[in-house]
This record gives sequence, structure tokens and C-alpha cells, in this order.
Amino acid sequence: MTSIELRTAGPEDRDFLQALSPRLSGVPGPAWHDLAAMEGFQTRYMAATFAPAALDGSSTLIAWSGDGRRLGYVHMRPGKDGVTEEPCGYVSLLAVDKDAEGSGVATRLMAAAEDWARARGYRFLCLDVFADNRRAVDFYKRGGFEAETLRMVKPL
Ligand SMILES: CC(C)(COP(=O)(O)OP(=O)(O)OC[C@H]1O[C@@H](n2cnc3c(N)ncnc32)[C@H](O)[C@@H]1OP(=O)(O)O)[C@@H](O)C(=O)NCCC(=O)NCCS
Repeated sequence: MTSIELRTAGPEDRDFLQALSPRLSGVPGPAWHDLAAMEGFQTRYMAATFAPAALDGSSTLIAWSGDGRRLGYVHMRPGKDGVTEEPCGYVSLLAVDKDAEGSGVATRLMAAAEDWARARGYRFLCLDVFADNRRAVDFYKRGGFEAETLRMVKPL
């Protein structure tokens, strides 16, 4: 890959954001949910995340290569710390195109998310990740994230 650049997403990026949804719904998820359930979750999550009323204070960054290809994106928004309820940053979405995976794109995007959170004066940046999505969990751990709560589910 030539280089990785970041820019703020615009309306022309909407199809790209949607095109990466199968990457997110296709991650190793809870064994008790099938792919259709994961796809439904992703569709609803995208609609809620990008609803005009939810965009206040949020930011979406696109990573693209020197030769003009879109490589991945991150979306972050203001959140609330689960313990103190103080304002914090929340990474709602992070996805990298399959062909660009493992080349540092997500690392660049998460560094930018941290810059965004620091610039807003937050003490914390947080996110949710499916526990079985080991690649992402390990990626976040290497980046300094630690588990805070664990949601337990028992299929009945
Ligand atoms: C998780 C994800 C965002 C990581 O993106 P990425 O661009 O591959 O990340 P990077 O290249 O910046 O870093 C990946 C790290 O994994 C390493 N890696 C490379 N291939 C790997 C593999 N097959 N399995 C695990 N790790 C691998 C890289 O060397 C790199 O290590 P480093 O941090 O020590 O340098 C990407 O895999 C993805 O889009 N997954 C699907 C969607 C997803 O799970 N999103 C997160 C939801 S919460």
C-alpha cells in the first residue's frame, strides 16, 4: 500500500460505509445468533448511528490510500462513562476493507479517534465489541483498552 490518509466522511462516502456492513455482521459473534440476526442487528445499528438526530458531536473518518481507494472508517460520538457518567468518547463503528486488513489502517483510525477524544477533553475512550471477535478484542487490547463490564447471556 502506498500511504494511508484520513479525511472526514461526506455524503459521497455513504455507499462505502454501508458496503463494509457485511464485515461487521460477519465477525465471529454469539453462537446463539445466526448470520441473519447479526445482519439485522447491523442494519438497525447503522440506521440508529447515522440518524440525523444522533449525529450531534459525532465524527466519521475515512481512511484512503494514496491511489484514491477507500480502506476503512471509524465513527465516534460523545458517550457517558458507565461508572461516573462523565462525558467520554465512544467508538461506535470501526471497519477495514478485507483487502486492506493487517496493514495498519485500523491503528491509524483509532489513533485519530483518540486525538478526537482528547481534543474534546475526555478522560476516556470506550467501545463495545463482541467477545468472540478475538481479532478485534486483541487489537483493542494491544491499543491499551481494557474490559470494564462483561455482559453474560444464557440461552434458555
Ligand atoms: C479489527 C479490524 C478493524 C482491524 O483492522 P486492521 O486494519 O487489520 O488493523 P491493523 O492492521 O491496524 O492492526 C492489526 C494488527 O493485527 C495484526 N494482524 C495481521 N493479520 C492478522 C490476523 N490474521 N489475525 C490477527 N491479527 C493480525 C497486524 O499485524 C496488526 O498488529 P500490530 O497492532 O501489532 O501492528 C479489522 O480486522 C476489521 O475491520 N474487522 C472486521 C470488523 C470488526 O471486527 N470491527 C471491530 C468491531 S468492534
